[in-house]
Amino acid sequence: MFVSDALGVNQLDHLTIGGADTVELAAVYGTPLYVMDEELIRKNARAFRESIEQYYDGNGHVAFASKAFCCKEICRIMQQEGLWLDVVSGGELYTALSAGFPAENIVFHGNNKSVEELAEALNKNVGRIVVDHFFELELLNQLALAAGKTADIMLRVKPGVEAHTHSYIQTGQIDSKFGFALETGEALEAIRQAISLPNLNLRGLHCHIGSQIFEITSFTIAARVMLGLAAQAKSQLGWEMQELNLGGGFGIKYLSEHTPTAYEDYMKAVSRTIRDTCRQLNLALPCIMIEPGRSIVGSAGITLYTIGAIKEIPGIRTYLSVDGGMADNPRYALYQSEYEMLLAARATAPKTERYTVAGRCCESGDLLGKDIPLPKSQVGEVLAVLATGAYNYSMASNYNRLPKPAVVMVKGGKARVVVRRETYEDVASHDI
Ligand code: LLP
Repeated sequence: MFVSDALGVNQLDHLTIGGADTVELAAVYGTPLYVMDEELIRKNARAFRESIEQYYDGNGHVAFASKAFCCKEICRIMQQEGLWLDVVSGGELYTALSAGFPAENIVFHGNNKSVEELAEALNKNVGRIVVDHFFELELLNQLALAAGKTADIMLRVKPGVEAHTHSYIQTGQIDSKFGFALETGEALEAIRQAISLPNLNLRGLHCHIGSQIFEITSFTIAARVMLGLAAQAKSQLGWEMQELNLGGGFGIKYLSEHTPTAYEDYMKAVSRTIRDTCRQLNLALPCIMIEPGRSIVGSAGITLYTIGAIKEIPGIRTYLSVDGGMADNPRYALYQSEYEMLLAARATAPKTERYTVAGRCCESGDLLGKDIPLPKSQVGEVLAVLATGAYNYSMASNYNRLPKPAVVMVKGGKARVVVRRETYEDVASHDI
């Protein structure tokens, strides 16, 4: 009935998430409010991990891409579920470590990590540093030498695979700021340099071809291309790849017409491709890593807003404004991402109207969606935007000095705050 398994309807026709009544949640915790279903997050995490066990003899790791949703509690949940963590900044690293996440299970990414970030990663013995460019190879080697350490690294490679998704979130093609290009020979040269540097231990290669991808073949082609590079490195440089990190990017259901691939089908196909290709190319089977972000948390989250101004412009459109918007969810403004919405207190009411749902920022582009089907709505009703668990809280801003909403985690019908709502004092707390 809904885009996510986390959601249901109770006898009052109220929308529920993880068994909790969303009308009550809005009343107790206020709006705008992010709400996440803990059981679904755990179930998704387990599904990825178990699919590696089932189809690849458990020879791999699932690293949750924390950029999708980063706070201490999600790090604890991922640790409990036996996942690794992908971080992409000193801030994400700090959050993970302060939640007690084991440094050795952290993969550190970034196309422009600072000296301080690299030094901190070395200092804390982060599991893998994914090196993005030649300068970083040299720099990390020097920092590791100074620290008396050998850093376990991977190299980020652009495999030149085009995935069908919004161009802003395509990252595997040659015209990308991420990684070493394959076609130009840059990636092979990076391998050559990495293995010559004494304080770096090149364990493997990494690629990430994009986000919100539905076609399994994009992933299997990327795997084959990466193994081709590994074969070249073996024959020309005598280096054997121990680990292959295929990144994240698995699509989720935002709208009822979306048909995401089951994780196990992805893993089945990718495992088969890796086994077949390794046999053909005479390569040892690598340990694999994957980095799902959106597909673990996206469908598990919703955002609750209170409806304010409703403005009909005859013959043009009706604007329905809510008490949040691009500051807590910039994805429509950035990518024209579409969401399903409904009224929390009348979850199954027929959607007879079309509204352009606007935020409260002082900016015309502050919309959450255009022509959204909804029941005829009233000021004061609670609007639920579905599947907002990924890249909403993590991409939120304080534009117009709006305090960021709280994040509430629901489990078995019980809610708890995992990120408290910001106050005006918080927002102004760094001002001198
Ligand atoms: N690994 C790497 C190296 C990545 O760059 C990303 C996402 C992921 C894993 C996780 O991808 P996921 O499974 O979540 O698709 N802000 C955009 C998405 C940007 C994704 C950037 N990299 C959005 O809101 O759609």
